[in-house]
Amino acid sequence: MSPTLVEALNDQMNYEFYSSHVYLAMASYCESQNYNGFAKFFLEHAEEEREHGMKIYKYLQDRGEQAIITGFGDPSNEYESVLDACEKALEHEKVVTSRFYNLSDIAESEKEYTTISFLKWFLEEQVEEESLFETVVQKLRRIKDDESALFIYDMHISHDEVE
Ligand SMILES: [Fe+2]
Ligand SMILES: [Fe+2]
Repeated sequence: MSPTLVEALNDQMNYEFYSSHVYLAMASYCESQNYNGFAKFFLEHAEEEREHGMKIYKYLQDRGEQAIITGFGDPSNEYESVLDACEKALEHEKVVTSRFYNLSDIAESEKEYTTISFLKWFLEEQVEEESLFETVVQKLRRIKDDESALFIYDMHISHDEVE
């Protein structure tokens, strides 16, 4: 792998850890508002992002490269509502998808077939991730200001919205 590709993989690994932080902050916001179902949903998602980061970590090590751990900016801890947090989660996933497209472009240009194959899993995962948050956002937009409906959705979200 070229230094450019290794750097891009490292960058994405750290971005996955950052994503984990973003969802942890969203979980904390939901919990502070007593939406414990949404908090659990985001906590589970934070775990998943950490696993994504570790997948890239392991890939780098398996290819004889050192995974370089860096920081990213602070995630936002302030949201206007559960809907606002979920809309931002959806936007975040779209950014992640475009990052995997860029990574795939680099791997393609280098004819790095092993990495192209490795990245396929993430591209497919992103389809699931975007679809998941699209669903949540759509349901929340339908619920709007109906507190009772939101109360019920909060009870069911971590059972209903699984990939
Ligand atoms: Fe991810
Ligand atoms: Fe994700």
